[in-house]
Amino acid sequence: MKLDVVIPAAGVGKRMNAGFPKQYLKLGNQTILERTVSVFMDMKDVVDNIIIVVSRDDDRFREFGFEKNSCVKVCIGGAERINSVLNGLHCAESEYVLVHDAARPCVLPDDIRRLISAGCNDNGAILVSRVADTMKRTDENNSIISTVSREHLFHALTPQLFKRKLLIDAYENAVSSGIVLTDEASAMESAGFSPKAVIGEASNIKVTEPFDMKLAEFFLKLNNRW
Ligand code: C5P
Repeated sequence: MKLDVVIPAAGVGKRMNAGFPKQYLKLGNQTILERTVSVFMDMKDVVDNIIIVVSRDDDRFREFGFEKNSCVKVCIGGAERINSVLNGLHCAESEYVLVHDAARPCVLPDDIRRLISAGCNDNGAILVSRVADTMKRTDENNSIISTVSREHLFHALTPQLFKRKLLIDAYENAVSSGIVLTDEASAMESAGFSPKAVIGEASNIKVTEPFDMKLAEFFLKLNNRW
C-alpha cells in the first residue's frame, strides 16, 4: 500500500521575518522546501503522490521545478493552516495520507516508516517528542498557577498519518463549528478518535525563528544530509 503526502507550505513565516516565505530560505545548497520534499521523494516505496500546498500570492514556487516530477501535485492554500491542509486533502487520492509541515526539513525517514507501521488504522498516529523541561501553567499576568506533570506529556510533531476521508470529515466538522485547531490529531480527537503517539527524534524541529536555521543546519549535518 502506498500513501499520499500533503505538505502545507502556504504560510508567511511572520516570526522568521525574512521578507519572503521561510520555506525559501536556504540551508546549504537547498531551500527548506526542497529539503522537506526530497525526504518523501526518496521514499518512493511507500509514497505515491506529494501534494504541495502553496499560497495564491507565492511567486517563487515555480522557480524550483517541483512539478517536473510526475508524483508532485500543487494546490492553493487558505488563510489558516487548517484551510491549506483541507485543500491538500481534497487533492489527494490515497486511502491514508501523511500531513507534514514544509517547515520541518530534518524529519528522519526511519521515523516516518515507524509512524506508517503504527498508524494504518482508524485512529491514525502522529510523531511526537518527549517533554524534557518542567512544565508550568500561568495566568494572564505570567504568574505561575500550577506545575503540570510531565508524565504522558509530548510535543506534537509532523508527519501525522490518518485515513484521508476520516480526517476530511473531522476537519470539516471543526471548521463549521468554528473550532481553532493547529494539527490534524486535534481534529481527530474532537471526532472521538485516539491517535497513537509515536516517539520520534526531537531533531524534527519546525523552523520558525532565525535561530532555528542554525539548529536545522546542525541536525542535517549530524544525520549526514548536508
Ligand atoms: O506558521 P507555522 O510554522 O506554524 O505553519 C506550519 C506549516 O503550515 C508551515 O509549513 C506553513 O507554510 C503551513 N501553513 C499553510 N497555510 C497557512 C499557514 C501555515 O500551509 N495559512
